[in-house]
Amino acid sequence: MSKKIKLFDPFVDINEEKAITKVLHNHFWANGAGKGNVLKFEQLFKKYINSKECIAVNSGTAALHLALSLFDIKNKEVILPSLSFVSTAHAIMYNGGIPVFVDVEPKTLCIDPKKVEEAITKKTRVILPVHYAGIPCDLDKLNKIKKKYNLKIVEDAAHASGSSYKNKKIGSHGDAVCFSFHPAKNLAMPSGGLISINGTNIKKFKKILDSKRWVGISNRVGSKYDVTDIGWNYYMNEFSAVIGIEQLKKLESANLKRKYIAKRYSKELKIIKKIPLSKDCSYHLFWISVNNQKEFMKKMLENNIETGIHYLPIHKMKFYNSKVKLKITEDITKKIVSLPIHPNLKNTEIDKIIKLTNKFSKV
Ligand SMILES: Cc1ncc(COP(=O)(O)O)c(C=O)c1O
Repeated sequence: MSKKIKLFDPFVDINEEKAITKVLHNHFWANGAGKGNVLKFEQLFKKYINSKECIAVNSGTAALHLALSLFDIKNKEVILPSLSFVSTAHAIMYNGGIPVFVDVEPKTLCIDPKKVEEAITKKTRVILPVHYAGIPCDLDKLNKIKKKYNLKIVEDAAHASGSSYKNKKIGSHGDAVCFSFHPAKNLAMPSGGLISINGTNIKKFKKILDSKRWVGISNRVGSKYDVTDIGWNYYMNEFSAVIGIEQLKKLESANLKRKYIAKRYSKELKIIKKIPLSKDCSYHLFWISVNNQKEFMKKMLENNIETGIHYLPIHKMKFYNSKVKLKITEDITKKIVSLPIHPNLKNTEIDKIIKLTNKFSKV
């Protein structure tokens, strides 16, 4: 029996092993104030994406929660795509906001700026686009809407470590940009996330986020401190940070490997509807559309190839149960399948995925 081809698989080598062993033995494993390797990771990531300030946290969900908390969305509306991981919507709820789901563009599956503008009301405060699969959203159009209606943009860049928009890395454009370093992501940690901030009030926001990620502790001098606001236990630990430092060193080459696989899939898969080829995409996911989603996935698994569905539409989940009709999202989620695209794939495995995808997508 051949080895199972995993849908996601972190790209690690001896350097991660050495780094975590060092942390293990130096006994400095975590610090809420974000010192040591957490600070180092923040500085390196900030340089990589060229942003004004970066604050590391312990998940992408925490990043979204805290980033939205900067813009006082209580009883206000936040416009987002339904085609995302549930955390995107939950982060709005954590802050007492109201999620307003809109449809995506059929080609990129990123939020449709026209639908965003149509959904704006007096209560709208934030637009929350998701750089779906690593394809950058149309930030120019979204920024025009933001300015016209005096809104904020919080980007969900969970898929977009290393993606670019107009020759600048994702993370350098928005008011607040949220990354996830979940093990499945392009830059993998056991768990981790980060908020990049670029707009106005950088110093003020950095101070707020520093405090909120460590149970609200502020004005710390020696062992004394105060708590001026509620906060959470969201700080990143040293093991995640050192893994992140090693992962960041090879992110560009790992993303190049993803692009190589994307080019092969794009050329060799005889499937009309699939993620477009883009030099700006990190290719966190490679999605295709098939008529027989369940059967296709079953056949691939019988042949030891894991596939996935990203995502089931959030607005249809019982908890959200929105009556809004999102035609493109609802149609594509019945057909969409993610194929493995991680840098650990060998050429023989890529060949097998292409051959069997062509075979079973016809069924
Ligand atoms: C689009 C999107 N948003 C948010 C998240 C949440 O990130 P995390 O799992 O690190 O909390 C994820 C990943 O799981 C994601 O894919």
